Amino acid sequence: MAGPFAPIPDFLYGTAWKKDPTAALTEQALRCGFRGVDTANQLRHYNEAGVGEGIAAAYRAGVTSRSELFLQTKFTYVQGQDHRLPYDPAASLSVQVAQSLASSLEHLGTDYVDSFLLHGPAMRQGWSYDDAEVWQAMRKERDAGRARLLGVSNVGLHHLQRMMEVQDEAPAFVQNRCFAVAGWDCDVRQFCRERGILYQGFSLLTANLEVLQHPVVTDPAEQFKVTPPQVIFAFSRQIGMLPLTGTTNGEHMRQDLASRELALPAEVVRKIEKIVG
Ligand SMILES: NC(=O)c1ccc[n+]([C@@H]2O[C@H](COP(=O)([O-])OP(=O)(O)OC[C@H]3O[C@@H](n4cnc5c(N)ncnc54)[C@H](OP(=O)(O)O)[C@@H]3O)[C@@H](O)[C@H]2O)c1
Repeated sequence: MAGPFAPIPDFLYGTAWKKDPTAALTEQALRCGFRGVDTANQLRHYNEAGVGEGIAAAYRAGVTSRSELFLQTKFTYVQGQDHRLPYDPAASLSVQVAQSLASSLEHLGTDYVDSFLLHGPAMRQGWSYDDAEVWQAMRKERDAGRARLLGVSNVGLHHLQRMMEVQDEAPAFVQNRCFAVAGWDCDVRQFCRERGILYQGFSLLTANLEVLQHPVVTDPAEQFKVTPPQVIFAFSRQIGMLPLTGTTNGEHMRQDLASRELALPAEVVRKIEKIVG
């Protein structure tokens, strides 16, 4: 890992569910100005090799370079995969983690990722021995220079609390689906805030469709001449989140990035945060 490294960006372009157009959409997102890309070595939902093709095309066109990019991928347990595995399922979890990351680096045409996440813990509750083994293996990859920062995804408060009881190192990131009905994941966000963990929120639009039509969002959208999705992305940032967008539309890419220019009044932020409950 050579450096200098990209700063943690204020938006991540999500590459799930894009199949064949993954390469073209990733390149388009980079051309639009995204410098953070989220993927996973999980063919069931992500075409990680396609992400790498899109990035390579952007390099060739002089759009960006490796040191400007923040690349994030994930290790996914067998249970979260289909038959197309990026590792030997008979190998130990530690070996699976190493094989998965090695394959991600190949897909992405790089010798390090900026962030490596555990896609989801093994069980609905708690932090299992399997999770502990995987986390240890992820730390080993990080210490060897193949990942800069580590994180966990799809976690509840109970996972994080248990994790922190048995591990001596907090993750740098938590990446969760963020529901307004759950106070925008307020328990997990508070846990993260208190420990300096950066919370990454996904499905900010798709998990909260009714919120996009609510006057606490549509009124400021009208006032500031922006769209409701732009209000949600600006809001998410103002409460300390790093948002993801998975848009497949060039105009939406530009609008999503433009939400960085929007500063909502504190009162609007407070109302959106308390929209439910
Ligand atoms: N860790 C995990 O388990 C996990 C799970 C799910 C997702 N993720 C990550 O999160 C990323 C994003 O997923 P997501 O669920 O947030 O998004 P998504 O499902 O990819 O969809 C975003 C939706 O919002 C729409 N949209 C985006 N910007 C818009 C705008 N400005 N105006 C109107 N509509 C807009 C998109 O429509 P258009 O395409 O028409 O713009 C699309 O329907 C994924 O690609 C993946 O990288 C991670």
